[in-house]
Amino acid sequence: MTWLAILILAVLLAIATREWLVLRARQRQRGLLRRWPIRKIPVEELDPRFHPDELGATRAAEVTYVGRGTIRVPGGTSDTEAWILAVLAKDARRLFEFGTCTGKTAYLWARNQPAGGTVITLTLAPHQLDTYQSVSGDDRTAEAYARQESQVTRFLYTGTEVEDRVVQLYGDSKRFDETPYVGSCDVVFVDGSHAYSYVVSDTEKALRMVRPGGLVLWHDYSTDCPGVFRALNRLTRRLPLVHIRGTTLVAYRNNNAATARNQ
Ligand SMILES: C[S@@+](CC[C@H](N)C(=O)[O-])C[C@H]1O[C@@H](n2cnc3c(N)ncnc32)[C@H](O)[C@@H]1O
Repeated sequence: MTWLAILILAVLLAIATREWLVLRARQRQRGLLRRWPIRKIPVEELDPRFHPDELGATRAAEVTYVGRGTIRVPGGTSDTEAWILAVLAKDARRLFEFGTCTGKTAYLWARNQPAGGTVITLTLAPHQLDTYQSVSGDDRTAEAYARQESQVTRFLYTGTEVEDRVVQLYGDSKRFDETPYVGSCDVVFVDGSHAYSYVVSDTEKALRMVRPGGLVLWHDYSTDCPGVFRALNRLTRRLPLVHIRGTTLVAYRNNNAATARNQ
């Protein structure tokens, strides 16, 4: 074997090893050389209803549920994420979602929340795409997805017995006035456009809307969504965010009664 052949083989081996290490790090939800900045916790640390016993998850975490099946819906939650969101609705009277898409989370929330509760969900309608406000530095792929996912006009809750619990709002989230909701929501789910400037804007509103003791959750904390990843890695420098292990959900519990007022 010539030196050239040995050199090519060595380079190929180095590339393959690096690719394998990167893949393994992604599966473990960490970087190649260091951990992602947000502290990872098991879901039972977020809420005692998730505490398993020797048989696994208990009936405290029982919900009405629709699985993902074999179809991959763009922007949709995983089965574990959908279950976690549904359980958190069981004692939540007012839930707010940035980004409706198929309406699956809105439906699961409405089905599982106590009677008399409300789900408010905001999305961009197909005829409002020209109101989308991109800024320089925003990820173009995230914007393309945001536009593509804004084509839905029939939602999973449409025509169901819980439809009257769902308040569907339409409009660009940067123009959304959160004032009527300040300090009142049990759970706020930030899952609209994943472009950095939108994640920052939606997050600031969500932090104002959550009630003391309530939860803000974000979807798609992963290097696949750089806008979400960057925004939350910056936010965790000022707020104690937690990353729910095995999911792309990040959570913040508003334990500081003053936080909701001061943001
Ligand atoms: C990832 S999907 C949401 C998935 C949904 N939360 C769920 O759990 O099934 C993103 C949603 O954000 C909406 N969206 C994108 N850009 C938006 C914007 N600028 N203002 C409001 N909604 C936006 C899209 O229309 C889409 O419905």
